Amino acid sequence: MRVLPILLLGLLFAGAQAAPPKQAPARPASARQPPAAEAPTAAPAPSAEEEKGREINGVCAACHGEFGQGGKRGEYPRLAGQRAAYLKDQLKSFRARKRINLPMYPYTQERELPDEDIETVSEFLAGIQLPTRPPDFKDTDDALTRLLAMERVMIIPRVEGDVENGKKVYQKECFSCHGRTGRGRGKFPMLVGQYTSYLKKQVDAYLKGERPHDDEGTTGILNRIAEKDIQDILAYLTTLQEAEAAEAK
Ligand code: HEC
Ligand code: HEC
Repeated sequence: MRVLPILLLGLLFAGAQAAPPKQAPARPASARQPPAAEAPTAAPAPSAEEEKGREINGVCAACHGEFGQGGKRGEYPRLAGQRAAYLKDQLKSFRARKRINLPMYPYTQERELPDEDIETVSEFLAGIQLPTRPPDFKDTDDALTRLLAMERVMIIPRVEGDVENGKKVYQKECFSCHGRTGRGRGKFPMLVGQYTSYLKKQVDAYLKGERPHDDEGTTGILNRIAEKDIQDILAYLTTLQEAEAAEAK
């Protein structure tokens, strides 16, 4: 579903060639937001570095989405707005097979992804902001403009859990690294706005010692937290994102 507009644009602008475009083509002038102050996608012209990042992201987009929004309900994690230092760390760790990820492994091999490209694509992805509510459309916005803008809206649905308890445990055990509002810190990842199913899968991997969290093996902080508390934390994290959306109104 996410690739539909890319394909559409590809068909429109690649002269209906059969091969899908390697990267998303530039938007036609008509689909660009007018430079009004409240235009949701109004941005300064992209730098050369940003263009390079977008180009590298072309292969990542097949799984993680054109805007790094992730997909398939968390099978592919969101990368947009994630901390750059963390993205770099993880890409190097996939490449070195320290973090095992079969779907991604070929894309991270030295020939495919040298350090320089890891830098560039990580900065590019970290710089993408995904709104948590639909923009206010103008009557003059056409269907394509609306479709493209809606593609970016990223809302993680609420999940079951005791939010009050989740808050208590999170603000005691997790905030020091992941930040008071779950947006991460330094190389510690942002957890807010990430798919719950993906986070859950990672916690399971940490608990089994398949992926090191704060400690090698199974002696880290997550191994000391009750299963119910983890669920409550995940529920709490989805409310932080809503709080942000409400503030933006
Ligand atoms: C064939 C599909 C596929 C492609 C292409 C792909 N990825 Fe991934 N990626 C995945 C999957 C699946 C995961 C989640 C692995 C897991 O569950 O541990 C992932 C995880 C990640 C993570 C870890 C996110 C986190 O929160 O820890 C990063 C960073 C990442 N990918 C970056 C990239 C970049 C950059 C590219 C392009 C150079 C790329 N990926 C290409 C499938 C893909
Ligand atoms: C001492 C610092 C520290 C504390 C405290 C901490 N974490 Fe983490 N967390 C990390 C680091 C470092 C990573 C990245 C690990 C890696 O490289 O794979 C991480 C990653 C994660 C991830 C995976 C994110 C992703 O995108 O893949 C989840 C989920 C997570 N932490 C949950 C928690 C929860 C829940 C708590 C509180 C119970 C917590 N963490 C407390 C350091 C910490």
